[in-house]
Amino acid sequence: MPTKEHLVFVTNNPNKIAEVARQLGEAYDFQSLADIGCTEEIPETTDTIPGNARQKAQFVHERYGVNCFSEDTGLEIDALDGAPGVDTAHYAGPERNAEANMKKVLKSLGRVPNRKARFRTVICLIRNGQEHLFEGICEGNIAGRIRGDQGFGYDPIFIPNGSSETFGQMGFTAKKVYSHRAKAVQKLIDFLQQ
Ligand code: IMP
Repeated sequence: MPTKEHLVFVTNNPNKIAEVARQLGEAYDFQSLADIGCTEEIPETTDTIPGNARQKAQFVHERYGVNCFSEDTGLEIDALDGAPGVDTAHYAGPERNAEANMKKVLKSLGRVPNRKARFRTVICLIRNGQEHLFEGICEGNIAGRIRGDQGFGYDPIFIPNGSSETFGQMGFTAKKVYSHRAKAVQKLIDFLQQ
């Protein structure tokens, strides 16, 4: 049997780990930050989503010398001029509270009819010292209210195009059909398998 390639996923978010682990499957020996004993707060201080993805991967690559990939995701709402964008995690404050973040989005939008939005994920892979970026986008709309209790983050207020349900009303398998993260991870897999 061929040896599995080791890759560290620069996150401790259990939801992201579950989504990505299912997709990467058995072909990779895939570890989280906890698995390599990294308990430090990883900086995310640039003003762009790709910038934050690169910053996180570079941090772990430099300190731990491992092949790794990070991902950074933002929600961009057209009627809010692209906000929360790079501020998605802490839109309602430094506590990074998902419910407060969703409520702030719903309040900021009010009854605005244009509810177009997208999730943008950028993955940064550092492998054998080389850096590679992969992007996945999911277009959709912001719901009028919080719907569903599955998933994480803004899932209960995001309706991907092609569905009448929010991500929060879907299980993993249905979310994967539309998901920004799944699209970026598929590009990563295609690259790794070249
Ligand atoms: P980060 O990429 O971990 O910095 O996440 C940015 C923000 O986007 C956090 O508030 C996450 O909860 C949220 N987020 C990331 N991915 C998703 C997703 O797939 N669905 C809903 N919210 C997400």
